[in-house]
Amino acid sequence: MTEISYIQQVNKLNNSFVSENGRPPGMFIQTFGCQMNERESEKLHGFLLAMGYNESPSEEEADLVLYNTCCVRGSAEQKVYGRLGRLKTFKKKQPNKVIVLCGCMPQREEVIEEVKQNHRHVDVVFGTFNKHHFPRLLFEHLIQRKTVIEILQDYSEASADEFDGQTTRFLPHKAGVTVMHGCDNYCSYCIVPYVRGREKSRPVEEILTEIEALVADGVKEVLLLGQNVNSYGRGLETPISFSELLKKISEVSGLKRIRFMTSHPKDLSQALIETMRDNKKICKHIHLPIQVGSSQILEAMNRGYTKEQYLQLISRLREAIPDIAIGTDIIVGFPGESEADFADTLDAVKQAGFSSAFTFMYSPREGTPAADLTDEIPKEIVQERFNRLMETVKPLQLAHNQQYLNQVVEVMADGESDKPGRFTGRTDDNVLVHFESDNLVTPGDMVNVKINEYKTFYMAGSAQ
Ligand code: SAH
Ligand code: SF4
Ligand code: F3S
Repeated sequence: MTEISYIQQVNKLNNSFVSENGRPPGMFIQTFGCQMNERESEKLHGFLLAMGYNESPSEEEADLVLYNTCCVRGSAEQKVYGRLGRLKTFKKKQPNKVIVLCGCMPQREEVIEEVKQNHRHVDVVFGTFNKHHFPRLLFEHLIQRKTVIEILQDYSEASADEFDGQTTRFLPHKAGVTVMHGCDNYCSYCIVPYVRGREKSRPVEEILTEIEALVADGVKEVLLLGQNVNSYGRGLETPISFSELLKKISEVSGLKRIRFMTSHPKDLSQALIETMRDNKKICKHIHLPIQVGSSQILEAMNRGYTKEQYLQLISRLREAIPDIAIGTDIIVGFPGESEADFADTLDAVKQAGFSSAFTFMYSPREGTPAADLTDEIPKEIVQERFNRLMETVKPLQLAHNQQYLNQVVEVMADGESDKPGRFTGRTDDNVLVHFESDNLVTPGDMVNVKINEYKTFYMAGSAQ
């Protein structure tokens, strides 16, 4: 049977559910982790809609609960285990409740063992390489009423992209578009290459067709997704660079903004900088994880650049695009990180002048080379460094937003906030803006907003 026929089969079962219960079965999806997971949840949501499920307001009431999971840090996994524990009580009251666990976590053997031993109430388990088999796996569970676990080790067969037709979009005006799968960088702390497989770029035509269809459907902004978009195109039949891809995408008429993440500093080309400078549709914002400022730790992390090279790259970006906003990711407490190493991080943060930063405490991930390092940093020291880092980052974010006080900025509206007449949106450089407007504003509208207030994480103003 093909995937489509499994969708029809589950639909039939759900028709009987409707006759028995007088309502369609309810679904509840919770996504953990990065934007790629968010995007994939849209596809899984699309499958569920096609199979006859309706939105349910809560996990407690839902007939099917799906967790699309992340394993990048231990804390991400603990969150999921905690939620699964809660579902156990709900399932006692509602034995036919279907619990689906998918995404990055199940790609780890330890997780499968944990689920088999301590979370037997989970019904369907699949990983990152077989999302498009979800309808079949769900059908098998519904028919046999036993746990179905299927984990593949790589993209050994057709990728899930061909099932795009089923997808839902959570936002009318913005969409994530995966341009490449997997990662080949093997940063020594990172689990992603093990759970997402080898780097694989999608063909240009496939990406353009998807974006054209999105724009025809009302999308104004795309976020191009990949673990290291700067290496896009390697290994394609006709190799092409990421900056060339950006140029082609910018030619799609009706598309207003292009964002992308994540950029790896070691692969960021001058051509990309020039394309960002010259192309109005490409947002003047780049997410460029530094991870740490110490060149020695960067080497232990296998990042492929030094502190000086990173800072030089920042200078080149600012020289070409003076108003560019640069965001980053930082890890604190990598094994062996000395006080001097950490001082290098603080110094690099100040020199780079980041407009936003995601900060993380190092979390050892079994199976990665760094997990075998023994010179762990005591928890209290990590916490103390983390706090100091936050205190260094916040004023930079505030200073970035301060420059807009009394200025008029162009904001793409995301929607109305809780209060009528108040809306939210984002600037080109990705700052959240709350604004008032007397006119009706719909998601995707470009609005000129005069900024009259700024805080660390947002700005406020009124439409002009
Ligand atoms: N591919 C992207 C990001 C992937 S994961 C990149 O290379 O930048 C997102 C962020 O999680 C990373 O940038 C890193 O800062 C953080 N991260 C990854 N593994 C981690 C670990 N073991 N402990 C703590 N943070 C980690
Ligand atoms: Fe992980 Fe490094 Fe790949 Fe990013 S580039 S996903 S941090 S291995
Ligand atoms: Fe997490 Fe998987 Fe993304 S491990 S960060 S959800 S690729």
